[in-house]
Amino acid sequence: MTALGITVALLVWLVTLLLISIWKHIHSSWKLPPGPFPLPIVGNIFQLDLKNIPKSFTMLAERYGPVFTVYLGSRRIVVLHGYKAVKEVLLHYKNEFSGRGEIPTFQVHKDKGVIFNNGPTWRDTRRFSLTTLRDFGMGKQGNEQRIQREAHFLLEALRKTHGQPFDPTFLIGCAPCNVISDILFRQHFDYNDKTCLRLMSMFNENFYLLSTGWIQLYNNFSGYLRYLPGSHRKLMKNISEIKDYALERVKDHRDSLEPSCPRDFTDTLLMEMEKEKYSAEPIYTLDNIAVTVADMFFAGTETTSTTLRYGLLILMKYPEVEEKLHEEIDRVIGPNRIPAIKDRLDMPYLDAVVHEIQRFIDLIPSNLPHEATRDTVFRDYIIPKGTVVIPTLDSVLYDSQEFPEPEKFKPEHFLNENGKFKYSDHFKAFSAVYTRPSFRRPWMPGGVVGLWMADPCLWNKLMSEVWTAESRSKSPRSFMMLYQSPSLPALFPGSFMYF
Ligand code: HEM
Repeated sequence: MTALGITVALLVWLVTLLLISIWKHIHSSWKLPPGPFPLPIVGNIFQLDLKNIPKSFTMLAERYGPVFTVYLGSRRIVVLHGYKAVKEVLLHYKNEFSGRGEIPTFQVHKDKGVIFNNGPTWRDTRRFSLTTLRDFGMGKQGNEQRIQREAHFLLEALRKTHGQPFDPTFLIGCAPCNVISDILFRQHFDYNDKTCLRLMSMFNENFYLLSTGWIQLYNNFSGYLRYLPGSHRKLMKNISEIKDYALERVKDHRDSLEPSCPRDFTDTLLMEMEKEKYSAEPIYTLDNIAVTVADMFFAGTETTSTTLRYGLLILMKYPEVEEKLHEEIDRVIGPNRIPAIKDRLDMPYLDAVVHEIQRFIDLIPSNLPHEATRDTVFRDYIIPKGTVVIPTLDSVLYDSQEFPEPEKFKPEHFLNENGKFKYSDHFKAFSAVYTRPSFRRPWMPGGVVGLWMADPCLWNKLMSEVWTAESRSKSPRSFMMLYQSPSLPALFPGSFMYF
């Protein structure tokens, strides 16, 4: 065939591909929410800034409205933007959109555990795990004591820094890591324990990598990219190593299990495994238990310690807020005792600061991807089964009607004119997690530990003991510089998401 013949054939092939794609798109999308026209193979990739997807979503929402469709490759994604649409989906469509969109870098967790499970075991594993977490104190007195106990270890570790500048990434991370580890394994790590540091460095690295443009690309085009070198390999290796660690702990527990006296979360899951010994399709296999435990470990540790780090950074950046906070802490708690959860009811400023930190850092701006479990009529659209659904959280946390000047850190966003705490239904840092108005505390596992551990009250009190007035006046700048270590990729994340 001549060169001209080849070129013509190629052109015909391309035009046919384009026509088929246009036809398929029109046919399949006539009842879908509006959105930019997708190109064959790549979809709308050129309309999205992979390094800042939340911003791209905001721009698309301005053009197409609060419910719109985009394609990443052939993956159809419906995005919900703004309070009304997000709340409607999370509240009234929680069953229809309760699936989990696939995240290929978490391949070893696929259809196992809680967070990345989209398979038949999800519902049971989730229900049982969350109940078990509560039984082990999550959201109850037990956890408060756990945290108070841990505070002493943290304080001791901080004292050893002798008021000198240090990078708090892992030192602070050890505290939530130990709280979660106690629930999961009844295990306490020393603050310089190599295994603990290794785990935390992987959690930290994973959280960072997940927000990078390359991983966004990989998670949507893994079919094409899986054989290439790149940071997805590192991320997947870390995820496997964390899972292997969890599996080892689960096996240790199995070998020393005493069914009449479950020690922790892992034992309780193993007892379920025991009950299903003769089942043809068991839910609680060793693998499922290991992934569930790894899910809790990662989700519980990194979210909380990142919130604490950013909370600390914010307090250093806004000394006037820190001053007011200290005044309230000194007045309500005083110097001689450790804070308790009930103190919070008398500390509206603290409550407002904690909420504002979580709003402002916007830890998971585009949420975790949900998936339509069946063809669903939503508003006037039909969203087919299997469509990825993203209820964006930044669009609610940064709503300028609810939070005037949302780009500014202002505890006043959560205070009324009398200085009392003002609950906002726009506080959706935990997504489909609703707060009980009487207690204003999310009931999801993450919510409870997260909020309390992310509580600058505790933190601030610790800091005030080790970071004396003198060293404070000398060291904030150097402390700040160290604080912005490479492990904190950006001053404020705002770009973390994964599909
Ligand atoms: C500051 C702390 C935290 C934040 C901001 C946070 C945020 C989130 C968000 C946005 C989701 C996605 C929810 C959705 O799919 O709609 C999620 C899911 C989840 N988080 Fe957290 N979380 C935090 C702490 C924790 C902790 C401490 C734990 C457990 C020990 C935890 C366990 C989970 C689990 C198991 C899920 C999956 C729930 C499911 O798929 O049904 N999180 N979290």
